Amino acid sequence: MNAKVHELLNQQINKELYSAYLYLDFSNYFKAKGLDGFANWYMIQAQEERDHAMLFYTYLQNEGQAVTLDAIAKPDKVLDSDMTVLKAGLEHEQYVTSLINDIYAAAYEVKDFRTMQFLDWFVKEQGEEETNANDMITKMELFGSDPRSLYMLNQELGARVYSAPSLVL
Ligand code: FEO
Repeated sequence: MNAKVHELLNQQINKELYSAYLYLDFSNYFKAKGLDGFANWYMIQAQEERDHAMLFYTYLQNEGQAVTLDAIAKPDKVLDSDMTVLKAGLEHEQYVTSLINDIYAAAYEVKDFRTMQFLDWFVKEQGEEETNANDMITKMELFGSDPRSLYMLNQELGARVYSAPSLVL
């Protein structure tokens, strides 16, 4: 495997684990506020991020490539209002999309078609993640200021259940 592609794939394990850690922080923020449904939604999001990390980890192993685990950074978003958290989520997903695109570009440059095919799932997934983050903001803008609507939105987010990723390696 090309050294740069390898390095970026390995770094992505850390980025996804950081994402899990970040969403755990979001979940904790909402739990402390008594918004259990929002807390549930981000807890499941954290689980999905850990799955993403494991997909990169397993892909490298399957390719016979070394995996090097690094320190996971402290969640660095300032969580001072519900909307700040939701917007930080969207901003983070846009950042992750840029990372996936960078790996894709590196793989494309060296004609690493297998890595490109592996990354196709993530390209689609990032589209969904950004849509979800945007939807959360829209709903909060519409309903967040009315306690009864916020209660229902919290109920809706509380119904989210975990499902394993559709990509199996
Ligand atoms: Fe693993 Fe939310 O991107």
